[in-house]
Amino acid sequence: MRACLRSTSVEYTRELGRVMGASAKPGDVFLLCGGLGAGKTMLTQGILWGLGSEEFARSPTFVLVNEYHARLTVYHMDLYRLDSFDDLDGLGLDDYLFGDGLCVIEWADKAEGYFPTDHVDVSISAVSDTERIFSVSSSADERSQLIQAVVDFGRLHADEHR
Ligand SMILES: Nc1ncnc2c1ncn2[C@@H]1O[C@H](COP(=O)(O)OP(=O)(O)OP(=O)(O)O)[C@@H](O)[C@H]1O
Ligand SMILES: [Mg+2]
Repeated sequence: MRACLRSTSVEYTRELGRVMGASAKPGDVFLLCGGLGAGKTMLTQGILWGLGSEEFARSPTFVLVNEYHARLTVYHMDLYRLDSFDDLDGLGLDDYLFGDGLCVIEWADKAEGYFPTDHVDVSISAVSDTERIFSVSSSADERSQLIQAVVDFGRLHADEHR
């Protein structure tokens, strides 16, 4: 299942994140892909708020995992500086990936194939300074509720601007 949305502001991107955070379940893994400045951290901010956190998301330095405590514990990671799969093994990420929290991983494409097969893919492409295309998808049936919530959010917003 896939949802495709057009964001024209940081606020929209955060609201999309809120919807995803509100629908997140224990053990979820969100893989965020997109170039530098695509909006991965902005989306993560919305996810945190959607889980009831009032904290601000800061991009984690590689190797560090930022942990936030809200309705779910959020493990926010950034693999930008990852050079090889070998580096991953030393990080002990499995405890996070197979735990009861929510993993939000920026630059997940740097470690394609490493993650649990049940995950949510978010790919972001920048169209202009302020416009981003979001594709949110999952092959896992259990995540269809979350994708549906994103589809509904996209529809609602499209109607508002008609
Ligand atoms: N529609 C939009 N959605 C999200 N961010 C936007 C949008 N339009 C402009 N921006 C700008 O794009 C930037 C996104 O920054 P952000 O830190 O979220 O990117 P990132 O994908 O995490 O980058 P990095 O790979 O460096 O971690 C911000 O400066 C934000 O103001
Ligand atoms: Mg970032």
